[in-house]
Amino acid sequence: MTAADFVVVANRLPVDRVVGPDGEETWRTSPGGLVAALEPMMRRVHGAWVGWPGQPDVALDPFEADGIDLIPVALSAEEVADYYEGFANDTIWPLYHDVIAPPQYHREWWEAYVTVNRRFAEAAAAAVAEDGTVWVHDYQLQLVPQMVRELRPDVTIGYFHHIPFPAHGLYAQLPWRDQVLRGLLGADVIGFQRAQDATYFLTAVRRRLRYEVKGANVAVPEGGETRTALAKAFPISIDTAPYLELAARPDVRARAAEIRASLGNPKRILLGVDRLDYTKGIGHRIKAYGELLEDGRLAVEDVTLIQVASPSRERVDAYAHLRDEIELAVARINGDHDTVGHSAIRYLHQGYPREEMVALYLAADVMLVTALRDGMNLVAKEYIATRTDNHGVLVLSEFTGAADELRQAVRVNPHDIAGLKDAIMEAVEMSPAEQARRMRSLRRRVLDNDVNAWSTSFLDALAAVRGR
Ligand code: G6P
Repeated sequence: MTAADFVVVANRLPVDRVVGPDGEETWRTSPGGLVAALEPMMRRVHGAWVGWPGQPDVALDPFEADGIDLIPVALSAEEVADYYEGFANDTIWPLYHDVIAPPQYHREWWEAYVTVNRRFAEAAAAAVAEDGTVWVHDYQLQLVPQMVRELRPDVTIGYFHHIPFPAHGLYAQLPWRDQVLRGLLGADVIGFQRAQDATYFLTAVRRRLRYEVKGANVAVPEGGETRTALAKAFPISIDTAPYLELAARPDVRARAAEIRASLGNPKRILLGVDRLDYTKGIGHRIKAYGELLEDGRLAVEDVTLIQVASPSRERVDAYAHLRDEIELAVARINGDHDTVGHSAIRYLHQGYPREEMVALYLAADVMLVTALRDGMNLVAKEYIATRTDNHGVLVLSEFTGAADELRQAVRVNPHDIAGLKDAIMEAVEMSPAEQARRMRSLRRRVLDNDVNAWSTSFLDALAAVRGR
């Protein structure tokens, strides 16, 4: 494989390796919004992508898929446990999501994080052409920017943080808080989802490292001189084209009608789509909905909540407990309210291909996004992109990055169950004219600011900083 001018580094490759019952190898799109966000741009530039194939102890040579050079990074089973399940998903993830679950601090996990970050950095440094660009993604790889810079001072380095960055009072808990800041500051541009995230990061830099910060610029001391790093918000979006296409396809529209019919054609279908994660506020949503049935404000003959909860990080304790909690709550509500013909909640612990997701979005009158904390939430944007008829209501938590942009959604504080119940009722009862008024404005926002606009603005900022 020849050196690439443009290299993406992310924890996951765009495809996960899956081994079937008979040992046959297949590849499927890996979870999360990252792949969908970057794929269109990667195909355009024919870049290389450094990432983990999603399974322990898999050593693979680089290969090409759909016009992208894939460079697999192997992780041992112990590294998956300590770096991925441990430090990334049981330390950083809960800490950066406002300690909704308690973060665990273990020195062995940190050591594994350093070791694995170095492996990703070495793979990127080996893959990138002279004066090329390396774009590092997300919280699993916060040390990689600095490590790549040490190995390859000639290249331009970007970092994008897909999840929230916490307020300093929380960030300060991290035993390795200074090392992580230095790792991130190895990048020329450090991108965040919201202005608030960038502000928190700059505050941490000022208070912990005492570097000079002017507006969005940080003066990073380097070999007796200073280099400028830029830290600001670049809210991510979706590739809207496939959603528009699928929403127009007769078979997908027929499938949406079939979904409605199979639920007994309720007056209103409510939908939740999340990875089964404690940040998503699935329990709060279900509690509010259950109380509305209990109070008689909603009737099971008239409404159904479809909750897609795709399996995620199942070996991390907090996720295993969450699953038990959610499934108990769903079973209780269904047990109390179902009739033979109608179900209160249709709970699906599965992931679905995009066609089926679009059919679900088309079938849903109300989309419930009630995250307690979320970097952006691309499901909200997918729903909006799909609603080409300007009908449908988005109920959106103010604790998502999306809430900064999607001002015409019905906004909720998911911790306030009474307020959440009122918001659900407002959405269920909203007139078609009001739905259309809001949806038109939401659609304009999403269609004008798609993922191409996002990657272009980030890469323009990167080029500008490097050119200085
Ligand atoms: C979030 C993160 C991504 C991650 C995805 C799926 O969207 O920001 O970095 O890939 O969740 O999680 P997983 O642990 O399965 O990669």
